[in-house]
Parts: sequence; C-alpha cells; structure tokens
Amino acid sequence: MPADLKGKRIIVTGAATGIGRATALRVSAYGARVAAFDVNDAEGINTVNDLNEAAGDARYWHVDVADEVQVNGAVSAAAGWLGGVDVLLHFAGVLKGANVELDEFPEATWDSVVDINMKGSFLIAKHVSGVMKKQKKGVIILTASGAGVIGGSSSYAYGSSKGGVHGLALVMQGYLTKHGIRVNDVAPGAVDTPLKTGQIKQTYALTGDKTAYDAAMASLVTPDGVSKVYAWLASDEADYVRGTVFTR
Ligand SMILES: NC(=O)c1ccc[n+]([C@@H]2O[C@H](COP(=O)([O-])OP(=O)(O)OC[C@H]3O[C@@H](n4cnc5c(N)ncnc54)[C@H](O)[C@@H]3O)[C@@H](O)[C@H]2O)c1
Repeated sequence: MPADLKGKRIIVTGAATGIGRATALRVSAYGARVAAFDVNDAEGINTVNDLNEAAGDARYWHVDVADEVQVNGAVSAAAGWLGGVDVLLHFAGVLKGANVELDEFPEATWDSVVDINMKGSFLIAKHVSGVMKKQKKGVIILTASGAGVIGGSSSYAYGSSKGGVHGLALVMQGYLTKHGIRVNDVAPGAVDTPLKTGQIKQTYALTGDKTAYDAAMASLVTPDGVSKVYAWLASDEADYVRGTVFTR
C-alpha cells in the first residue's frame, strides 16, 4: 500500500537528479504537491515537467542551499504557493575531495562541501521550521550518510559534513518536537546516482582496480527503491519514527 500523501505540501531540495528526483516523482505520484529546489536548472525543470505531465502539481525554484538569501526567498515563495509546508525532504548535497590525502586537502574544497552539505541543511531547516512552527506541525527529513555516521567515507570533507548533518538532526529532534515538528535523518546506502558513480569512477581512475570498480558498481541500489523509504517517512504513518534511518 503506497504512503498516503494526498494534498501534502512538500519541498524537495536536490530534486534535479538522483534520490531527490526519484523521491519527488514518488511523492507526487502519491498525491503531494511539490516545490522543487536545485541549482541544476535544466534537470530541475525537467523533473517538474515530468511531475506535471503525470498529473502532478509542481513548481521549480533555483536555490543554492548554501546561500541564506536564496533559501529564505524560495522558502517564503514556495510556502506562499503551497499555502504552508507539511514536509521538507532535503537531498541537496555534493561529494568532492574523494581520495585526497588529509595533508593535501584544499581548504576551498573543504569549505565548499561543508557549506553546501552542512550549512545548507541548517539554512533550509532554519527557514522551513519557521513556517512549520507557526503551523504547529511539520516533518523535516534531512539526508546524512553512513559516511558521517558509521565511517568509511572517501572524502574528509564529505564524511565530516554528513556527521554534522546527523548531529544537526539530533539537536533538532530534541528541540522541535514541542512545536509539533518531527525530524528524521536518513543515511542511504550506496545508491546509483551521479554523485556516487562519479566517486566510484574517480577512484577507479586513480587505482585502476577493475575488480573493486565492478564490485562497487554491482553493489549500488536504485534511487527509486530508496525513495519509498522517504515517501513513507513523509507520511503520517511514520509519526512514531524518531532518529536516524539507515537504508540498503
Ligand atoms: N548516492 C549515494 O550513494 C548516497 C549515499 C549517502 C548519502 N547520499 C546523499 O543523498 C543526497 C542526494 O544525493 P544523490 O546521490 O542523489 O546525488 P545527486 O548528485 O544525483 O543529487 C544531488 C542534488 O543536489 C543538487 N545540489 C548540489 N549542490 C546544490 C546546492 N548548492 N544547492 C541546491 N542543490 C544542490 C544537485 O544539483 C543534485 O540535483 C546527497 O545529500 C548525498 O550526500 C547519497
């Protein structure tokens, strides 16, 4: 039985590609209205066109989640269009600096990854929670990663930023419940998206290890499969779920 999201007003960040796009398609198919945020305008508009062609109701905003002015403006505009925000599904993120030694890691790469992944999660949650507090109701789902929660990241900056997202979600869970806001962070397993395949290909180019490359590619799961977890977490059925959710 699909999650009941009829009439839910949902913001999906990172909706242009990968897990964000797959989840936008799924929640729209389950009846939600979708405000899609991304910096990849061509693919973001493509996602929204696909939703609307399938009888959905979606709009696109260009939003760099690391820029508070853009986040504030887009959240206000999307909340105005939707008439409120029931759910935030936050996927926007980047993986840079894979396989770079710590003593050679560029500060600019660190800043960029931490800005987008960690500060971006803070900024979008900050502005969406403001809307939800007034409603006294809402669901915020952030995307961390096993990379920052159980270890094994290919990038110092990526693993650190995702640990930060997980920490942010833990603090939010503690403080936002009293405002009627449920918070979860999801740590997806290895998923077949441009972010993950890019890292696997880069590692192969560096090591030339075809066996490891083939094994890594074969282990990937689909964005569509993972989107089912997010869609369910967005629904009222998941009311009693708290904390981090790991997917395979
Ligand atoms: N694919 C995996 O194996 C995996 C595993 C664990 C966690 N994740 C996380 O899942 C999320 C989605 O990643 P994905 O794997 O679908 O990769 P993806 O590259 O397909 O999706 C990331 C999306 O974020 C957008 N984005 C990047 N920078 C942005 C910015 N500054 N502002 C707004 N949007 C921006 C991209 O344009 C893209 O649409 C990310 O947070 C990623 O860290 C992915």
